[in-house]
Amino acid sequence: MTSTSLITGASSGLGTEYARQLARRGDRLVLVARNEARLEELAGELTGAGAAGVEVLSADLSSPAGAASVVDRLTDAARPIDVLINSAGFGLPLAFENSDIEDEARHLMLHVEVPMRLMHAALPGMLARRSGTILNIASVAAFMPRSTYGAVKSWQVMFSRWANSRYRSRGVTVTAVCPGYTHTEFHERLGLAKGEEGIPDWQWLEAPRVVEESLRDVAKGKAVSVPSKRYKAITTVAKLAPTGLMAKLAARGR
Ligand SMILES: NC(=O)c1ccc[n+]([C@@H]2O[C@H](COP(=O)([O-])OP(=O)(O)OC[C@H]3O[C@@H](n4cnc5c(N)ncnc54)[C@H](OP(=O)(O)O)[C@@H]3O)[C@@H](O)[C@H]2O)c1
Repeated sequence: MTSTSLITGASSGLGTEYARQLARRGDRLVLVARNEARLEELAGELTGAGAAGVEVLSADLSSPAGAASVVDRLTDAARPIDVLINSAGFGLPLAFENSDIEDEARHLMLHVEVPMRLMHAALPGMLARRSGTILNIASVAAFMPRSTYGAVKSWQVMFSRWANSRYRSRGVTVTAVCPGYTHTEFHERLGLAKGEEGIPDWQWLEAPRVVEESLRDVAKGKAVSVPSKRYKAITTVAKLAPTGLMAKLAARGR
């Protein structure tokens, strides 16, 4: 049976890669982001790549009206969503004490309030059908003290762990995907040109691999997926190491 997958942040990076891999398996896709032109271009590509159908839903998720339009789509009983991927996100360029508090509030909203609202909208239908899959794209930063970014990602991991344990036996899995540094537009949007991020080459991952590995973990019903052996090792150490040491190490890259 054809699945319908709704992906936020589909216009770039990991969201685009999820859309490509799910199109190849024949899913119907609902693409969400602000940049409508990029979503339309991607929709054309995905239709040629095997997607059963592609809808473009342009929305600014940091506005209540934008988030509400996606909630409406998720609760449309005539067109059920089987897979929800919360990938929309961004980083903040300044240290917390210097950042604009309104930017911080948007950051908190996009990474915490919006995924919570979208999950809350998607879950009743999924539970009624006894089938559903939710992915929250968190980060390895969830396991280290790293300003508000680490804090919001840690919320995503903790909430996914709880939700997976609560709903898995009722047919709905919830997985927090925790990538390490991955080549996307994330760092460029922070104002850092390629090579200026202060991150050694060995720490970079490529989006296709992150997505492929995470989808394997999702199929196994895991609550947390940390793609790549090197980041599995790093997160294991991070859970045991003292907070001060991890905060220093985490402050090195952007
Ligand atoms: N890249 C990494 O190193 C890395 C590592 C760990 C975790 N992550 C996480 O992975 C997720 C995806 O990031 P990425 O690396 O793929 O970055 P990216 O290439 O910059 O993509 C971010 C996506 O989020 C969308 N977005 C941003 N603000 C939005 C808003 N207000 N409303 C709707 N959509 C919005 C953007 O689309 P529009 O601009 O078109 O709206 C874009 O599609 C994020 O949650 C990020 O925190 C990234």
